[in-house]
Amino acid sequence: MKQNGLALYPGSFDPFTLGHQDILERACRLFDHVEVTIAHNSQKRGFFDTDQRAALAEACTSHLDNVSIVVFEGLLVDHAKRQGAIALVRGLRQVSDFDYEFRMAFANRRLAAEVETVFLMTSEEHALISASIVREIHRFGGDISSFVPAPVLAAMQAR
Ligand code: PNS
Repeated sequence: MKQNGLALYPGSFDPFTLGHQDILERACRLFDHVEVTIAHNSQKRGFFDTDQRAALAEACTSHLDNVSIVVFEGLLVDHAKRQGAIALVRGLRQVSDFDYEFRMAFANRRLAAEVETVFLMTSEEHALISASIVREIHRFGGDISSFVPAPVLAAMQAR
């Protein structure tokens, strides 16, 4: 029988949204262990720094017992091979995500054919959530409570 092994769920998670939580919960049902892999990009200043994003992801995933949170910098597939991951999980919300996701999946496959990209569909209620939209609504004082888990809401309101 095949082992379901370790999957990485990579992204910027700036911030971690209810859409991310939805995909992560689905991945946790499919794989033995899922690592939320937070990409650190030293060229880009985010809303939260990567340590804050990691702490928030930790707070939002305490109900899941097969999740870990890791911050990394560099090529994702190199990190995946080091960790012994068999899959990269990416969420799909709508057709417009396909172009970017397909290009990234093909590039990652060319670099490391043994690491499979697995796409999971988000639930309909989260199909329009993106971290950039959450940041934009928050910037203009809008209500983001239906887009993010409680720890993220509190952290964003505190800023
Ligand atoms: O949440 P995002 O911003 O869509 O996630 C994109 C992310 C972080 C998964 C992607 O940019 C990435 O893997 N970055 C690490 C560098 C890398 O491996 N790039 C090649 C992917 S084609």
